[in-house]
Amino acid sequence: MPTSLPALAFGGDYNPEQWPPEAHAEDRTLMREAGVDLVTLGVFSWAWLQPGPDRWDFGWLDEQMDALHAADIKVDLATATASPPAWLAQRHPEMLPVTQDGRTLWPGGRQAFCPSSPVYREHALALCTALAERYHDHPALALWHVSNELGCHNARCYCDVSAAAFRTWLRQRYDDDVARLNDAWGTAFWSQRYDDFEQVLPPRVAPTHANPTQQLDFLRFSSDQLLDNFVVERDVLHRISPGVPVTTNFMVMRQTMEMDYLRWGRELDVVSNDHYLIAAEAGGHRELAFSADLTRGTADGRPWLLMEHSTSAVNWQPRNRAKLPGEMIRNSLAHVARGADAVLFFQWRASRAGAEKFHSGLLPHAGTDTRQWREVVELSRLLDAVEEVAGSAPRNQAAILFDYEAWWGCELDSHPSIDVRYRDRAEDLHRALTAQGVGVDVVHPSTDLTSYDLVVVPTLYLVSDETVAALTAAAEAGATVVVTYFSGIVDESDHIRLGGYPGAFRELLGVRTTEFLPLLAGESVQVEGLGEGAVSADTWAEDLELDGAEALATYVDGPAAGLPAVTRRAVGDGRAWYVATRLDAAGTDRLVERLVADAGLEQLPGASDLVEVTRRVGDDASWLFVINHGDEQAEVPVHGVDLVTGREVAGDLRVPGGGVAVVREADPGRSD
Ligand code: GLA
Repeated sequence: MPTSLPALAFGGDYNPEQWPPEAHAEDRTLMREAGVDLVTLGVFSWAWLQPGPDRWDFGWLDEQMDALHAADIKVDLATATASPPAWLAQRHPEMLPVTQDGRTLWPGGRQAFCPSSPVYREHALALCTALAERYHDHPALALWHVSNELGCHNARCYCDVSAAAFRTWLRQRYDDDVARLNDAWGTAFWSQRYDDFEQVLPPRVAPTHANPTQQLDFLRFSSDQLLDNFVVERDVLHRISPGVPVTTNFMVMRQTMEMDYLRWGRELDVVSNDHYLIAAEAGGHRELAFSADLTRGTADGRPWLLMEHSTSAVNWQPRNRAKLPGEMIRNSLAHVARGADAVLFFQWRASRAGAEKFHSGLLPHAGTDTRQWREVVELSRLLDAVEEVAGSAPRNQAAILFDYEAWWGCELDSHPSIDVRYRDRAEDLHRALTAQGVGVDVVHPSTDLTSYDLVVVPTLYLVSDETVAALTAAAEAGATVVVTYFSGIVDESDHIRLGGYPGAFRELLGVRTTEFLPLLAGESVQVEGLGEGAVSADTWAEDLELDGAEALATYVDGPAAGLPAVTRRAVGDGRAWYVATRLDAAGTDRLVERLVADAGLEQLPGASDLVEVTRRVGDDASWLFVINHGDEQAEVPVHGVDLVTGREVAGDLRVPGGGVAVVREADPGRSD
């Protein structure tokens, strides 16, 4: 983690422009009381910093920077380019984003810009340059924050400017050869052939299904355009403000698929992520854990910053549940347990006006005599107590491969079943591994796999030959590889890999499927062979033949009755498993028990579905995090010192229901 940042930073977005000056001194007093040491300033301040085309006003920001510095609070300074001011859209309506069905998205909300707009970029870079020149050597400056959640509301723009940019991108991808585009897009189908790049459009609303490869390329293009917005600002900041790290906040959570964050991460000096729980979902800690591990994947295994989450309710869900007592602390520690070196929130003071006035903040509307405030202060003390974990990171034996391109391809229309959702198997296998005390990295398929004993390949619909070769090599070298249904189906152009499914993985897995047998909504089948009695499965079945593999479990009923549902093949020193159906949670648990044994994985003590146990490993110490999401006391046989209570534990750590512990282990855990 860059040294300009506090060790385990605590704070959040600070929007002083929403408040009269009298509030600002109180803000800083209360920030100090709460132990805030990092704030993100200026995220939506463009209209304040540049009230007109040739008018600039940095006075208020100078004051804020100086006063925060005097209060010993560091600043993550935004480039303020996320929400263009009204005057810019008024002068240049051509920079507004347009939806797939041709509707313009007007100013009045935020992020009303087309990511390909040269006008937007020119003005954004002027602002970024002015800020960098003014504040590059300010002592409060710890980090630059480019834009905000790039792509949050404008990830895909279908306007004419975007169309032209898409064509330029396509010319590059296909070496200016329209025949190559025709081939990749399979335009022999439905008379879609192009004679010239100039005929090509974004996949705007069409009479029926748009060309899938056109859609896929448009997703690639859209992600690249947004990344480019980051890169051009970053380059300005690196030039004018060398040595100060640059970030932008990701949205690695289930709802967000548009940005290829596993590629984006390589461009950031430090990765940061925003995470919000979905209130309607029971057991949101599981999705949080997956997202946090995926965030670490985007950071190439290094520590990262939790840039935003919420102290309690948000405003943008249909029913905005308040967090239960202790929940915010558990959420925060769960991110730290998985590599976050900062716990920051949206936002410091809950707004009194605007669309987010019912969003919780560190300082609630009701003030400091509140449970929320007391928990904020408690969290801050707790982070101080565990500060020594900063810089360490989990080191895991298991990996889940995750690929945004496979996600995009998997969820295109006109597929065998709309119930095949890309993150579904990845999250369920992650849940089961976590509950059995197995730490998991969530990584891009191009990651070096040689250190892993278990590699999970969920729903990798689109896969390259290189990935298949790397997985085969991993299995040959002794790893257990497990592939789930609807993997290996197409190449990078979304063309079917012929000869039987699962296409690219047929040889590795030793199976050949001649037909998919997807199940109807509400239909389930029984599968036996995974321990005693049958387990349920739904969504998917296959007409599968063994071709070198053995059947470990078979369908009892349904369209594939009597056929293999789970198979295994010995490959070199390792094994390759195939799971041809969507097992229910109990089935996945049983499968994972077998995989853990097969791969010889270490299981952290005391873990269960409700008790999260993870380990961070440093140079000469390791820390076991225990987060008890249940009501019952958890018992964990660990030796060391619990940094939360300061007590020595000798194999008898007890964590009350809802509580947390962070134990510096007497005997440091694995660090290889
Ligand atoms: C996002 C944004 C913030 C705020 C929060 C509300 O994360 O970055 O500005 O809108 O959502 O949850």
